[in-house]
Amino acid sequence: MSVLIQTSNRMALMVISGPMTTALRGAAVQASAADPSANVTGLRAAKSKKFAVYRWNPDKPGDKPTMQEYNVDLNTCGPMVLDALIKIKNEMDPTLTFRRSCREGICGSCAMNIGGVNTLACISKIDTNSKVTKIYPLPHMYVIKDLVPDMNNFYKQYKDIQPWLQRNDEDQLGSGEKQLLQSTDDRAKLDGLYECILCACCSAARASSRRPRPCWHGRGLAECIIWLRRARRAFS
Ligand code: SF4
Ligand code: FES
Repeated sequence: MSVLIQTSNRMALMVISGPMTTALRGAAVQASAADPSANVTGLRAAKSKKFAVYRWNPDKPGDKPTMQEYNVDLNTCGPMVLDALIKIKNEMDPTLTFRRSCREGICGSCAMNIGGVNTLACISKIDTNSKVTKIYPLPHMYVIKDLVPDMNNFYKQYKDIQPWLQRNDEDQLGSGEKQLLQSTDDRAKLDGLYECILCACCSAARASSRRPRPCWHGRGLAECIIWLRRARRAFS
């Protein structure tokens, strides 16, 4: 196996240093010389994007929040804003703090405010225009550090609306003894509601999301509607 790898590496080196590559490199250099504004590196024009990211460190007493700018080379970065944040953390600034997990819009942990919109960083494409993209933590929530909001109040509000199946005949139903069937029509009423991933983007859009009382808008409202619509639920 190692012989094969060494052989293919040698072949790759031969190809890299072959006459065709020399000619291509020469063409790139000529292009640069003819138009310096083209900023050609090798065969690719540099594609730099500036991000301004909210920074606040609770471990530094008296520290005020600031916006820190980073230039990211889009040629070596994935297409999503989360890719840029990961690249910044890995290659430029390991102190930058944010949540993320699935990288495919399922877990909800990368919710933040990007360009003025509450959204998920992993499914937000980087805007390749020349404007600075500003990234903040979700608004109207306390900040733990940098782009990490405190989700405790959000989860408390969620618990307060009791989004679970409740019936007034539970004492007559042994656990797992009887199926509570749902009609196809009733199931169809849940479409567009049950997909919530608890990212808090909707709740954080309202200043009232900081209040301790139950939150009846956005996600909370959707969940309430779900449970009220469920024909299997005995309470209303
Ligand atoms: S309803 Fe709200 S919390 Fe749920 S996924 Fe949508 S924006 Fe996120
Ligand atoms: S990382 Fe899971 S939704 Fe973005």
